[in-house]
Amino acid sequence: MDITATSTSQTEKTDRDTAPGVVVFVCRSCRSEAEPNADPRPGALLTEAALALGASEGVTVRSVNCLANCKRGLSAAMRSADGWSYMFGGLTENDAADLTTGARLLAAAPDGLMPWRGRPDSLKRGLVSRIPPLHFTEETS
Ligand code: FES
Repeated sequence: MDITATSTSQTEKTDRDTAPGVVVFVCRSCRSEAEPNADPRPGALLTEAALALGASEGVTVRSVNCLANCKRGLSAAMRSADGWSYMFGGLTENDAADLTTGARLLAAAPDGLMPWRGRPDSLKRGLVSRIPPLHFTEETS
């Protein structure tokens, strides 16, 4: 008997566990308003944490130099292949898990909108904007 074998459920993540079609971009350059000269920058700490967590959870996370949201605290964007995209600010260096949770919610949303229910608080109060998908047209009737 091979004692190193593990069951599929332990090794393979399902779409519910991961976030197919969604990419989280975390700004590594965001500074702390209170300590603008902090090194490493809090944005870098959040980025490193999100990259590590994303790698372990199967959520795609990428580092980005600036999202032009610098005045709103630590920032991240979430792009969806077929759904809406989101910009967040006011994050802390401890919000990596909130970002991967949000990515999974967005990936699983049948309407392409990240649901409010279940959304981490940081992604509620930190919401800056949402951007419609390319194919979006407003239903007016
Ligand atoms: S430095 Fe982070 S959004 Fe500009």
